[in-house]
Amino acid sequence: MIPGPVPVHPRVYRAMSRVLYGHRTKEYQTTYKETVALLQRLLHTEQDVLIFAGSGTAAMEAATANAIEPGEKVLNVVNGKFSERWSELTTAFGAQSLVQEFAYGQAAEPDAIRESLASDQSIRAVTICHNETSTGVLNPAKEIGQIVRDYDRLFIVDGITSVGGDYVYPDKWNFDMLVTGSQKCLGVPPGLGMIWVGSRAWKKIETRKQRNPTYYLDLLKAKKRYDGFGDSPFTSAVSLMYGLRESLIIMFEEGYEQRIERHHRLGRITRAGYLGMGLDLLADPAHYSNTVTAVKYPSGITDKEFRAQVRNLGILIAGGQGPVKGKIWRTNHMNVCTERDVLATIAIIEIVLKRLGYEVPIGSGVLAAQEQLLKEKF
Ligand SMILES: Cc1ncc(COP(=O)(O)O)c(C=O)c1O
Repeated sequence: MIPGPVPVHPRVYRAMSRVLYGHRTKEYQTTYKETVALLQRLLHTEQDVLIFAGSGTAAMEAATANAIEPGEKVLNVVNGKFSERWSELTTAFGAQSLVQEFAYGQAAEPDAIRESLASDQSIRAVTICHNETSTGVLNPAKEIGQIVRDYDRLFIVDGITSVGGDYVYPDKWNFDMLVTGSQKCLGVPPGLGMIWVGSRAWKKIETRKQRNPTYYLDLLKAKKRYDGFGDSPFTSAVSLMYGLRESLIIMFEEGYEQRIERHHRLGRITRAGYLGMGLDLLADPAHYSNTVTAVKYPSGITDKEFRAQVRNLGILIAGGQGPVKGKIWRTNHMNVCTERDVLATIAIIEIVLKRLGYEVPIGSGVLAAQEQLLKEKF
């Protein structure tokens, strides 16, 4: 139940064990092109999607290295560990990171971002993490996108734990770049980083005055190779691509709306279970993530002991990161996750909390989760 890598559908493993074609064969190029078309369908777009061998951070690095010039000012909206990564990347590539900070558990506030853009004309780009995995917060990407477009800046979004698990419309929501990774809601083992590049971002890349030193993650080179041949400039992660194609096919068999609504439903059931145990969630209730939930430890429960006991009972869950390390735990509801998984997680967690001395009438979390499930359409 950790928020990635997440359990993978058996059909995806089977697809990955297919005979390995060379990455310059017609067979592989067909797979690659079909996979890109499925990703475009998922993102409701006809614009470019490029796939790199590398984790999600490789795609983040590709966005920064290609679209940001050294010395440029970037407004990095930071409200968790992953949004902070944009600031680190900005600095690593010699640009100026202007951090707009919101507390862990709070969502980014569109009005504050508008004020920053209004007061500093030299900001060239804005970064956010759509679904902050470290805090369980879903940021208002659509609202921020409109503001960033009004000010004609580039808008670069991390969708690593939203794409495939929540609604994401890069064109309609005025994104310029969107990155994601294979091992979260897309339901594939780790090792692929994907980047959607909108026309305004291409224009910026094509007209930049200073290029960052990048070779493997050169987006123009990747686009040229894909447009010409339907594959990637360097050896592709062929088996992972088979897996991604299969996972996307499974996604559309379930149905786009059905899939996203299942993630929303699992989020509501999970939260009801935790709240029913009298626990506090980290995220602002107006901005709950639908793919990961972060829960505050009640006093007296230690992270190490709690998670070890939950693991002994068969469920792997994640702890906190950065300033909330040791203060929260996190469980995912992504990809093939079902009601069975979230109900079992709530039940086991309730038992462990009770054993560790937390006063909770046994069954209160499970009951609240069941009551929520009864209210749901399924
Ligand atoms: C929102 C978000 N961004 C970035 C990352 C980093 O991705 P990766 O570990 O695939 O490089 C993660 C991983 O947990 C994430 O959840």
